Amino acid sequence: MEPNGKITPEAIRDMKARRERIPALTAYDYPTARLLDEAGVPLILVGDSVGMVVLGYPDTTQVTLAEMRHHAAAVARAKPRALVVTDLPYHTYETAQDAVANAQILAQAGAEAIKLEGGVSVLPEIRALREAGIAVMGHIGMLPQHVREEGGYKIKGRSEDEKERLLADALALEEAGVFALVLELVEPDLAGEITSRVKVPTIGIGSGTRCDGQILVTHDLTGAFPWFRPKFAVAKADVASAIRAAAAQFVKDVRGVSG
Ligand code: KIV
Repeated sequence: MEPNGKITPEAIRDMKARRERIPALTAYDYPTARLLDEAGVPLILVGDSVGMVVLGYPDTTQVTLAEMRHHAAAVARAKPRALVVTDLPYHTYETAQDAVANAQILAQAGAEAIKLEGGVSVLPEIRALREAGIAVMGHIGMLPQHVREEGGYKIKGRSEDEKERLLADALALEEAGVFALVLELVEPDLAGEITSRVKVPTIGIGSGTRCDGQILVTHDLTGAFPWFRPKFAVAKADVASAIRAAAAQFVKDVRGVSG
């Protein structure tokens, strides 16, 4: 953490040694970023989940760098104390050179760290980002940018083969210098094992309770996207009903007045 209380990638990494749990949520706009910051969330992810819960795409594969830049800039304008991590969208880190150039565009928009999906296969890109001084959060397990090839959102790490691969991915990413590691839909015992084997914090989503932190899409937490919510996400509010009720009341009021 910096003297002004700003949370850095190193501060997030060091939370593990202090056994401090890490709550993380997504934001794609200025007011949500401010609200999450006021609630004390230490890590805000401008996730490419924006494609599904804000932009109306069926999955994250169509999200563009320009869209991520736009949303990262909106979140950064909130000047949160929280660390702002932004996803590199699909097809923007196919070479180390692309990864660095595109991450720099997001950094100029206000991203303080970058997340990208993949294990050993993206090591050259992660190493290049670290050499360019860009903080990186890893993401292994179910990779939403590959949902089409994978045929859905399925738990990873049930077979011995997959277990070994995921453990090797986690250790390789740690070695390459990520400051934290998202484990998405990783079988909970394996998520616990990875958590005990790496020194950087693991941040789970649908991966059980033994990770060092948990991340959710804020729309799932607040009930703001009522048409789909993953089974593991428990909504703590019903924003969709509040919006519908307020809009329906407005419709009645206006019709009553102009009637
Ligand atoms: O895009 C996103 O919101 C994410 C989180 C769900 C981890 O990658």
